[in-house]
Amino acid sequence: MRLSRYFLPTLKENPSEAQIVSHRLMLRAGMIKQQAAGIYSWLPLGFRVLKKIEQIVREEQDRAGAVEVLMPTIQSADLWRESGRYDDYGQEMLRITDRHERDMLFGPTNEEVITDIFRNGAKSYRNVPLNMYHIQWKFRDEVRPRFGVMRGREFLMKDAYSFDLDVAGAKHSYNKMFMAYLRTFDRMGLQAIPMRADTGPIGGDLSHEFIILADTGESEVFCDKRWLDMDLSGQAVDYDSDLEPMFKELTSIYAATDEMHDPANCPVPADQLVTRRGIEVGHIFYFGDKYSKPLGAMVSTADGEQVPVQMGSYGIGVSRLVGGIIEASHDDAGIIWPESVAPFHTGLINLRTGDADCDAACADLEAKLTAAGKEPLYDDREERAGAKFADMDLIGLPWQLIVGPRGLKNGVVELKRRATGEREELSVESALAKVTG
Ligand SMILES: Nc1ncnc2c1ncn2[C@@H]1O[C@H](COP(=O)(O)OP(=O)(O)OP(=O)(O)O)[C@@H](O)[C@H]1O
Ligand SMILES: [Mg+2]
Repeated sequence: MRLSRYFLPTLKENPSEAQIVSHRLMLRAGMIKQQAAGIYSWLPLGFRVLKKIEQIVREEQDRAGAVEVLMPTIQSADLWRESGRYDDYGQEMLRITDRHERDMLFGPTNEEVITDIFRNGAKSYRNVPLNMYHIQWKFRDEVRPRFGVMRGREFLMKDAYSFDLDVAGAKHSYNKMFMAYLRTFDRMGLQAIPMRADTGPIGGDLSHEFIILADTGESEVFCDKRWLDMDLSGQAVDYDSDLEPMFKELTSIYAATDEMHDPANCPVPADQLVTRRGIEVGHIFYFGDKYSKPLGAMVSTADGEQVPVQMGSYGIGVSRLVGGIIEASHDDAGIIWPESVAPFHTGLINLRTGDADCDAACADLEAKLTAAGKEPLYDDREERAGAKFADMDLIGLPWQLIVGPRGLKNGVVELKRRATGEREELSVESALAKVTG
């Protein structure tokens, strides 16, 4: 992609409305544009990151055996009356009336709709276990939308829903999502800690929030300090095996949200306990027949008995993660994207656009990087070098390849690693080999 033909409205100054670093950097890097309180357009750069995150979430859901669907954003109020949540949900629900005076709403979550889909198509124990998910926009009319995409009103969520015949099956489905979440966040370079959580308005008995630690987090969290240097990276999971031992081992290390933490009964000695702030990036629940019963989602057992299906639901804040990753990975100059979610892999900087040698070398590098699948963003604008460096640091691509007339005369280009700031002069071939290797 050539920057001269792209849309990257970067800002030099810090926007005054942004209180936390991720919001500041997303605005400065031209990733989002606010359209109304808590409602954003995703500009080209931001949209690419959102899609990368979405894809990692999708791959790990698929790997864990979940099946993707797409449910609408607009729902009928009738289903929510059936479940009994229409009045309970309160002011966070955006209620809409259509031209025929029918009560509709913009979905804040999808338990009702998915249960309706299930009851309509699944009748017996042969149809379960089943886990269906979608990645769709939600609307919650938050009292105080803030911190950019971290607490928006319209936001992108992955929500999965599991259906099982009995409690043991439902627990296995829960464990699968638990492990899939650890893998998902790890692939984004995040250390997300599963914490015992309150089940809140979704209801039910078992719940974990996946929290990343950050000073700007909205909630206070407590965990054993062993979590801080826990490395779960690349952990392979056999989803067909019994995951309970792994689940037990991981949850035996204390971690709890504010609502669940009881200082008087905390099993961790004070000098081992970490009290920090955290950002909730995922939340999983087991809630049994809370929705299947009122909505009549019944399945027949092998003995012909009718039982309400056992359910769980599993959310990931896809759009919140964009901000969350920036909170976890930035410096004074800007964002530092982990490779897995970076909007482009390499920034190619032409120090003298218009110079025949520089233009030719850059065009060649651009073609070779593209052919190697390493998505370059080529800064071919007629701008000062300083401005190009500042923009490139701000948008945080993992690598920068810097091409100037003086270097080219000696057959070299400069390669910079954004995360460490390390720079080296290399031949064009070695630089390419390093970036694509
Ligand atoms: N207003 C929001 N803006 C962006 N992401 C959100 C918002 N509300 C929830 N999410 C994300 O969706 C995930 C699943 O939704 P869930 O119903 O558990 O949210 P929640 O517990 O109400 O979130 P919170 O406690 O932050 O308000 C959350 O873990 C979070 O990552
Ligand atoms: Mg939650």
